Amino acid sequence: MNQETDTHSIESSHSCCCSMYYYGAAVVFILLITVKNWVNGGKVSKRRDLSNEVIIVTGGNSGIGFETCKDLVRNGAKVILATRNEQRGQNAIKELNKIRPNSSEFMKLDLSDLTSIRLFANEFKSKYNKLNCLINNAGIMAISTRVLTKDGFESQIGTNHFGHFLLTNLLFDVLKQTPQFRIINVSSRAHIRNTINLDDINFSNTPYQKFYAYSASKIANILFTQELQKKFDAKKINGKAMCLHPGVVRTELASHFPYYNIVYPILYPIALLLLKSPEAGAQTTLQCVHEDFSKLESGKYYVDCKVHPTGNKTALTTQNAERLWDMSVKLVKLDQSI
Ligand SMILES: NC(=O)c1ccc[n+]([C@@H]2O[C@H](COP(=O)([O-])OP(=O)(O)OC[C@H]3O[C@@H](n4cnc5c(N)ncnc54)[C@H](OP(=O)(O)O)[C@@H]3O)[C@@H](O)[C@H]2O)c1
Repeated sequence: MNQETDTHSIESSHSCCCSMYYYGAAVVFILLITVKNWVNGGKVSKRRDLSNEVIIVTGGNSGIGFETCKDLVRNGAKVILATRNEQRGQNAIKELNKIRPNSSEFMKLDLSDLTSIRLFANEFKSKYNKLNCLINNAGIMAISTRVLTKDGFESQIGTNHFGHFLLTNLLFDVLKQTPQFRIINVSSRAHIRNTINLDDINFSNTPYQKFYAYSASKIANILFTQELQKKFDAKKINGKAMCLHPGVVRTELASHFPYYNIVYPILYPIALLLLKSPEAGAQTTLQCVHEDFSKLESGKYYVDCKVHPTGNKTALTTQNAERLWDMSVKLVKLDQSI
């Protein structure tokens, strides 16, 4: 009798331990999902049918750009993937064409080379007579040393700002003949740090700091958006320009960091939990693509699919926006700007 009771109590305490274990595991699982959902942030609130729309995505072969392209293709758009590396570009095209055959096309574009940008614009205009949306997404971050582009710009401001500035201006004739066109500039929350030194934009006379240079290029993205919209409004042009912060996203952007190949695999589990997935990182760009044109807040900065106040009031002034525009026109050697 006693032996039976003992066996029974051992069994019941064992099953109690098991259920506590499962209960604990379920709580941890729910907690992880909640954290991940919170980290991933806002989601696109609606989708438009993008059939008959032509959309250029710079840097569309990886990270946020690639996830953006996947959604655009799913929703019917013709996507032009504008990137510098042909092999990586063609690999991405293969994946996109699996989602929808003939949905996308690779065109070579190196934003750190003004000649390449001019060639790209000519090629695009020889093939297409409309451009519904230009997504200036490509970017580089925290290049360790001061490297100059072919045209003599510090590489981060050269690629992230001057390259997109020239591209947008060269495509403007085709944009303005497309009703309700959109320009989406992918900036960053990094704009709140530091400032932009318009007296020495290429760090020729001031010590180079890699994060300072990245911040300056992301401030430039916002100043460019604001000035662009001011010009559209003044000339009554039926287009809207927006900029955004995509969130802190698990992409290859940090690949220039020292020891990246060693450190990243070690930190990957943490990154998986605490950084946005590339798909989540594309949501704010996609919100600006899919939102009704009349509801888009032109010239504004979006975060997590909503308009958000910018930081850095010292750097983001009308005077700086005008100065940067005029300086950019001269430095990229434009005869005529928007
Ligand atoms: N990830 C984040 O946490 C984060 C946060 C805030 C803002 N952002 C911004 O989000 C944008 C997309 O970055 P990501 O995170 O998706 O990084 P990513 O995976 O490294 O993608 C960057 C893309 O830009 C392209 N690119 C770089 N230099 C180029 C050049 N000279 N000409 C043409 N294309 C060039 C890259 O092409 P290759 O494949 O040839 O390198 C790649 O396709 C960037 O503007 C970045 O500043 C990212």
